[in-house]
Amino acid sequence: MGLLAPLNPPLPAWPEARVWVIGASTGIGAATARALLAAGARVALSARSADKLRDVAGAHANALVVPLDFTDTNAVTAAWGHLQAQWQGVDLVLIVAGTHKEMRAWELNEADSRALLEINLHGPVNTTGAVMPGLLAQGHGAIGIVASVAGYGGLPKALIYGASKAALINFTESLYLDLHPKGLGVYLVMPGFVKTPLTDRNDFAMPNLISADEAAHAILTGLRAGDFEIHFPKAFTRKLKFLRLLPYRLYFALIRKATGL
Ligand SMILES: NC(=O)c1ccc[n+]([C@@H]2O[C@H](COP(=O)([O-])OP(=O)(O)OC[C@H]3O[C@@H](n4cnc5c(N)ncnc54)[C@H](OP(=O)(O)O)[C@@H]3O)[C@@H](O)[C@H]2O)c1
Repeated sequence: MGLLAPLNPPLPAWPEARVWVIGASTGIGAATARALLAAGARVALSARSADKLRDVAGAHANALVVPLDFTDTNAVTAAWGHLQAQWQGVDLVLIVAGTHKEMRAWELNEADSRALLEINLHGPVNTTGAVMPGLLAQGHGAIGIVASVAGYGGLPKALIYGASKAALINFTESLYLDLHPKGLGVYLVMPGFVKTPLTDRNDFAMPNLISADEAAHAILTGLRAGDFEIHFPKAFTRKLKFLRLLPYRLYFALIRKATGL
């Protein structure tokens, strides 16, 4: 493979592509589903809120609304079967769904930790496991997982959220190593701050905040380029990538200075 070659096999042109977006009812997932529909793709939209999914799908003939809870293996397996019956194949499973709850060391508790890990880690892992036999049987197609730059390194207020995303980064890297030789694509999506219902809860100034539509544009561009890691906005993510290379003494000092925490 050439040094500058894309890390992933090409996806079909959008008008030929069949994409399943899980977490499509609000925020980044909804904006990405809308952008894919506008580009001509066939899009299945999943999340728990059926009414919101129907709003995002609108009157698009190419949209399929498939409500589910992605922590429920049977529901994901049944939805995969439904998509196979409708489309005879899936080109990309994009797992966007996730949640967030601020937590500092002195707020650590089992109930909140388990609830966060159930959605942010077990949800994507469970969904990947449920679609894996089908993707391998197809012999083509791709899986994309939305983690977060909060997974690059420890941050205050992100005690369990950051840990769940760090685990997802590692999980997705391992998936790439296993699945690339089998001809399957694997994408790791790493947003910085994006204005969505999830971040509307934050009580601090979010540097380099972008809109969900800008995030969707960056995701579609990265998918089309065949990038493994799709990180955005670059002005923010490049700084964090640099920070994680530093010795801890410097890393901790700079994070404290930046957050005031
Ligand atoms: N916004 C940011 O700044 C930012 C930054 C870095 C990473 N991220 C990540 O980007 C992803 C999307 O976040 P967002 O900001 O767009 O948040 P959001 O607007 O709250 O969207 C979260 C989506 O996940 C779905 N979801 C949650 N639990 C689910 C479950 N059990 N089963 C199925 N779907 C479920 C929600 O739908 P229902 O509630 O209808 O199920 C919704 O569609 C998350 O993984 C988040 O961690 C966001």
